[in-house]
Amino acid sequence: MSVDPLIEVKDLKVHFHTEDGVARAVDGVGFSIAPERTLGVVGESGCGKSVTARAVMGLIEAPGKIEQGEILLRHNGRTVDIAKLDPRGAEIRGIRGTEIAMIFQEPMTSLNPVFRIGDQIVEAILLHEKIGRAAARERAVELLAAVGIPLPRQRFEQFPHQLSGGMRQRAMIAMAMSCNPKLLIADEPTTALDVTIQAQVMDLMNALRRDFNTAIMFITHDLGVIAGMADDVVVMYLGRIVESGPVREIFRNPKHPYTQGLMGSIPSLADWGVRRLTAIDGVVPSPFAVPQGCGFAPRCPHAMEICRTRSPDLAEVAPGHAAACFLNQVPT
Ligand SMILES: Nc1ncnc2c1ncn2[C@@H]1O[C@H](COP(=O)(O)OP(=O)(O)O)[C@@H](O)[C@H]1O
Ligand SMILES: [Mg+2]
Repeated sequence: MSVDPLIEVKDLKVHFHTEDGVARAVDGVGFSIAPERTLGVVGESGCGKSVTARAVMGLIEAPGKIEQGEILLRHNGRTVDIAKLDPRGAEIRGIRGTEIAMIFQEPMTSLNPVFRIGDQIVEAILLHEKIGRAAARERAVELLAAVGIPLPRQRFEQFPHQLSGGMRQRAMIAMAMSCNPKLLIADEPTTALDVTIQAQVMDLMNALRRDFNTAIMFITHDLGVIAGMADDVVVMYLGRIVESGPVREIFRNPKHPYTQGLMGSIPSLADWGVRRLTAIDGVVPSPFAVPQGCGFAPRCPHAMEICRTRSPDLAEVAPGHAAACFLNQVPT
């Protein structure tokens, strides 16, 4: 049984046209997220994760350009292609916040330092909902409590700098959840936090998806974080998806050498006997100079002749599990 996806991205290409040339930041990405499901998006820094997220939020502006593809959102009983909307137009502004909300690695990206935490959440609520200020205040206090902020009435009155990093993160999450979005995009929300706070924020995200029935697109460079969180995973490398599938399948049976490499940096899995690569040699090539052939070939321990000349497409390796690697497919 399959449910209609909430959002479906098809063959998306986002390029940046700069004086130094064209950066192919996102170069043919497709995935879908069903209502109430969590998709983990994993890859090293520079692989196009944030640009993909910004495209879904309708936030690509010059020098960035959506060159190709569709971002289909089911919205009010019809389907809207976010890729075709004016990033400053009324339609996308109506979608942001109510249908799709985003939280960032750095809370100060969304929180304004000169306004009280509570007032910022109240404004976010009033922007999208026809309720009175008093009711919005109550909602804001409830939200602060829901994200685990102690003494929410007192915190309501404080400014962002009066909160710890972890509490700021929670306040930003409260603001993102203020209009009950159907999709929450979390872009490395725990990366800047220490390990204990990171674990608490992860628990919070899991609680939110249970209590609010929100679908989540969870972006991280850390495959270990995904394990306790995602239903499905896409692994991104150099603007493309190199492997995708259900989380258990990806962890049990990673097919792409890049995924295997990411896996090797998770200590608990290495202890369980998964061959350890510690770290993947080399760095992600510049999106200004995408190599010919498979983008991972220059770093791949298994690269073959064909990998340096031809780029493999994603192909199914098991039901619902796909990898873009010639080790797993016969070139046609
Ligand atoms: N505003 C921009 N101008 C030019 N290039 C950009 C811009 N934003 C992103 N890029 C390019 O897109 C690539 C992918 O960026 P990003 O999606 O932020 O990676 P990730 O989130 O996976 O670390 C970057 O390496 C960069 O070259
Ligand atoms: Mg990023």
